Amino acid sequence: MHSKTQNQRCRVAVLISGSGSNLQAIIDSASSSYHVCTVISNRPDVKGLERAANADIDRVTLDHKLYPTREAFDEVLANTLEGYQPDLVVLAGFMRILSEGFVKKFNGKLINIHPSLLPKYPGLHTHQRALDAGDSHAGCTVHFVSQELDGGPAIIQAQTDITSCANAEEIAQQVQVLEHHIYPIAVDWFANGRLKIENNHSFLDNKQLPASGYIAN
Ligand code: GRF
Repeated sequence: MHSKTQNQRCRVAVLISGSGSNLQAIIDSASSSYHVCTVISNRPDVKGLERAANADIDRVTLDHKLYPTREAFDEVLANTLEGYQPDLVVLAGFMRILSEGFVKKFNGKLINIHPSLLPKYPGLHTHQRALDAGDSHAGCTVHFVSQELDGGPAIIQAQTDITSCANAEEIAQQVQVLEHHIYPIAVDWFANGRLKIENNHSFLDNKQLPASGYIAN
C-alpha cells in the first residue's frame, strides 16, 4: 500500500498521450484524499498537457520516439516518476505498452482505464468490435495493470445500453461519460487505503471484488 500518513494526501501521477479528459475528471475530483503531483505525456503538445497547465500541475513530456528501445524509454519514465514519489500511477489514455520491468516496479500502484467491459475486447477498436458483435451494452473498466495487455484484475466497471448507437463514435461518447464517473472513484478508493491487489485479485475494504470489478450504477 502507499506510504502516505494521515495528514498527507495521496500523490497521484497521471500518464497521458492525448486529450486527457479522464485526467480532467481526476483533477476535478481531487480532494482531501489525493492530488495530482505530475502529468507525464509521451506525446508533445497534447491537450492533456494544457489541462495540467491550467490546473497548475507539473508537466513532463517524454517523447518515446527519442529513445532507441521500449526498455530505454521505460527506464527514463520510471526514473522521472520516482522523482515525484507517487503513491499511485494512473494511466489515462497512455498509448504505450509498458515493459515487464516497469510494471514490476510499480506493481500494486499502477492502474488503467480500458474502454470495454473486460475481459471482453482487450486491445484497440473496442467500440467497433462491440458494434460488429451486435452487443446490446458497452462500457469501461478500471483495472490494476499486470503484464498481460488489459489483463490485470478489475476494480470497477460501468456499462451503458448501445442499441440506439449508429457508430463507434456515438458509443465512445456514451462510454466516456462513464469513464469520467468511475475513474475518480477508483483513485479515491486507493487514496483512502481501501483498494489493493493481492495474489492477482482486487480487494475493496478487504473484500475480494468479482472478476468484473465493482459494478457502478
Ligand atoms: C479513453 O477512452 C480510455 O478509455 C482509453 O483512452 C481514452 C483516453 O481518453 N484508454 P482521454 O485522453 O482521457 O480523453
